[in-house]
Amino acid sequence: MTEFKKHIETNKKAWNKRTPVHIKSNFYNNDEFMKEKNSLKLIELNAIGNVTEKSLLHLQCHFGQDSISLARMGAKVTAVDFSDVAIKEAKKLAKKINTRVEFIESDVLDLKLKKEFDIVFSSYGVIGWLPDLDMWAKTISDHLKKGGLFLLTEFHPFLELIKGNGYDYFYDSNPDIEIKNGTYTDGGSELVTKTCWWNHSLTNIFSALESNGLKLTHFEEFDYSPFLLDGMIKKEKGKYVLDKRKENSTPYVFNLKATKK
Ligand SMILES: C[S@@+](CC[C@H](N)C(=O)[O-])C[C@H]1O[C@@H](n2cnc3c(N)ncnc32)[C@H](O)[C@@H]1O
Repeated sequence: MTEFKKHIETNKKAWNKRTPVHIKSNFYNNDEFMKEKNSLKLIELNAIGNVTEKSLLHLQCHFGQDSISLARMGAKVTAVDFSDVAIKEAKKLAKKINTRVEFIESDVLDLKLKKEFDIVFSSYGVIGWLPDLDMWAKTISDHLKKGGLFLLTEFHPFLELIKGNGYDYFYDSNPDIEIKNGTYTDGGSELVTKTCWWNHSLTNIFSALESNGLKLTHFEEFDYSPFLLDGMIKKEKGKYVLDKRKENSTPYVFNLKATKK
């Protein structure tokens, strides 16, 4: 097994442990979600446009809330995650609320569906788990129709630096390895997980997409997080900032759109 594969296996174990905690958490509020709540945030909702009747591939779908939301909005959704626990729970959730989504268990770096989609979408806390953005961009390019939309709504790579946890900005093939108690949601204080994380600079993201036949059409940065994460306070409804940076403007999230040439 290559070093990258070993690291991905480590991450998969962590996500399999985290998922049952996330499903029960207030953070994901699954009870509200089941009552027709759309889990997508305005940042990506405003960017994705009309999805009705569009075929949509959702990468790193976790236990499926966003995939199901997109299906409720009228998209024909295929959703992928490497966590067998998350995919099993996503299938259960979709069945419970009678929504059609095809959930597939796969590493996004190995995905070969032999199908092209109108839209490929991924969001919030995804690329840092991937050791090789060139392979990631190839997966997107291989599964997107010519002229189709790729939308990535992601935490800004500056954020890891600003949080001050000692991460580097520029990509290093040796990951930042973290052994941590708990997870980013409430609950799970008994959890201990080991994770491998790669910070990808903006240049790394842009050039991986460009060199795999994708053309950037839009890039936008946001000065808040739509999620209340560690060390953050509420700035206004649905907008959170780091307490220690509350007086400073800081990039938290970006939207990137690309199309296939
Ligand atoms: C932070 S979550 C995605 C966020 C999602 N928007 C949510 O909050 O539901 C990251 C997801 O990436 C998945 N993941 C990490 N590495 C992966 C890989 N190599 N292939 C496929 N899925 C991966 C994890 O299992 C997890 O479900």
